[in-house]
Amino acid sequence: MELLNKDINEVLVSAEQLQIINRRLGEQITKDFEGKNLLVVGILKGSVYFMTDLTRYIDLPLKLDFLAVSSYGSGTRSSGAVKIIKDIDIDLAGYDLLLVEDILDSGRTLDYVSRMLQTRGANSISICTLLDKPERRVVELEPDYVGCSVPDEFVVGYGLDYDQKYRNLPYIGSLKREIYE
Ligand code: IMP
Ligand code: MG
Repeated sequence: MELLNKDINEVLVSAEQLQIINRRLGEQITKDFEGKNLLVVGILKGSVYFMTDLTRYIDLPLKLDFLAVSSYGSGTRSSGAVKIIKDIDIDLAGYDLLLVEDILDSGRTLDYVSRMLQTRGANSISICTLLDKPERRVVELEPDYVGCSVPDEFVVGYGLDYDQKYRNLPYIGSLKREIYE
């Protein structure tokens, strides 16, 4: 990853640490959802790497679906306007939903998505985010599962992008300021 590494200021969560997080969250989710009707819904595209690794540590029968939203464009700050680009395919009635997100920042995306899904007859809706930037919260929202907190820096890798790039970095790193300023 030499060519991509040169744009990274600091590694914040290594590939090894990511798998330790996935195992911990997967084991907790396995306990909490035993006997329930689990549907894991990933928010595209940022959650894809996290979701595919996390679900390998969930020892339960489950189904997967995806939801695509946009709120960022090519900047590094949320516009506040969330738009659904692709809705889920499965009828939610009777499912225990686990929403999987890459990072919780202002909270607007997950607030919008969970409100929208609340009217669809699911048994329960829980939120799992890999990363959390708690000091940036604008909307009050408490995730049920958090991988780890990160400082208020723009981070990329393991699904997270800047201008659709850097998703394929195997770790989470802060992006050098000169790349986006
Ligand atoms: P929120 O709606 O402000 O909570 O923002 C959540 C969304 O913004 C996430 O799904 C990410 O796509 C994006 N985002 C927020 N912070 C970062 C970051 O540091 N790097 C990459 N994407 C981010
Ligand atoms: Mg996202």
